[in-house]
Amino acid sequence: MKALVTGGAGFIGSHMVDFLVNQNIETTIVDNLVNGRLENLAQHSGKITFYNVDISNKSALDSVKFGNFDFIFHFAALADIVPSIDNPMAYHAANVEGTLNVLELAKRCSNLKKFIYAASSSCYGIPKQYPTPEETAIQPQYPYALTKRIGEEYALHWGKVYNIPVISTRFFNVYGPRHRTSGTYGAVFGVFLAQLINKKPLTIVGDGFQTRDFTFVTDVVEACYKAATSNFRNEIFNVGSGNTYSVNQLAELLGGEKTYIPKRPGEPDCTFADISKITSMLDWQPKVKFDEGVKLMLDNIDFWKDAPVWNAKSIEQATSTWFEKLS
Ligand SMILES: NC(=O)c1ccc[n+]([C@@H]2O[C@H](COP(=O)([O-])OP(=O)(O)OC[C@H]3O[C@@H](n4cnc5c(N)ncnc54)[C@H](O)[C@@H]3O)[C@@H](O)[C@H]2O)c1
Repeated sequence: MKALVTGGAGFIGSHMVDFLVNQNIETTIVDNLVNGRLENLAQHSGKITFYNVDISNKSALDSVKFGNFDFIFHFAALADIVPSIDNPMAYHAANVEGTLNVLELAKRCSNLKKFIYAASSSCYGIPKQYPTPEETAIQPQYPYALTKRIGEEYALHWGKVYNIPVISTRFFNVYGPRHRTSGTYGAVFGVFLAQLINKKPLTIVGDGFQTRDFTFVTDVVEACYKAATSNFRNEIFNVGSGNTYSVNQLAELLGGEKTYIPKRPGEPDCTFADISKITSMLDWQPKVKFDEGVKLMLDNIDFWKDAPVWNAKSIEQATSTWFEKLS
């Protein structure tokens, strides 16, 4: 069996690679390292094939003689939310054009068993229904969410027209070791853990009572593998933890001082996946409990020692366009 993981040097992608290598699947990775790190793959030295290619560069991607794949896990994307307001064209290039180029590559794989698209729960915007099922209205609130949604539409459309067995997995707030620590203001775990190491207060957005469906990365990877090896195609599955947890709860579990910063427009007070479809159709269940997952993060806290340390002032600067455009 052969698999391609785009974005395989990133957070979720590198865990997917761990899983595939463990299954003795011959694994190829395409990543331009814009946010990914080769250290995330160091444990597989000599066992994987890595290409440093930008998926939005069609001729560069086409020039690689990949051969056939049984599975394509398409995870490469610009994945931080906040910078998408300032750089929408870069997000369009990576997340939409890049997806199209990977779909064109998939068309050429004569034996492809599944194309897994890493979609985002941000497509639901501020949903009216909790837990949120897959049929909920689509209402992206910012360019990251829109580009991920357009990528999903392309994937499902290419699936129908060009007979590619596509499944879109919509991830909800994934966390775990190697959660990215790039220079941009990003997901809450990376921000809090860097603050914790440096004994700075945790910057809680709003009153901290907003809740997130924090889903542990190994559960997400297992869901993607189950989807890839299932007989289903042209389906969308939410991938969540089956619960939702407040940012205050997370801060309590991590410990340390807290400070509160303004709530951001366009962000929901709750994310909470309805996972009844994936649990019944794919026989998948999330396994890692939130307190266990947080403990694993604390056990691996050294990973964040060189991560940028945010404070209220630097976050205010990084999010100024967000407040200007989305208020
Ligand atoms: N982390 C989450 O909570 C979450 C939630 C919903 C969806 N997703 C999706 O899951 C996927 C993986 O996210 P992640 O959290 O691991 O992010 P990540 O930034 O750690 O991983 C993305 C990888 O894609 C690579 N990449 C970006 N642009 C590229 C390009 N043009 N060409 C080649 N490689 C490129 C990056 O270098 C990085 O290694 C993304 O598609 C993201 O949209 C993530």
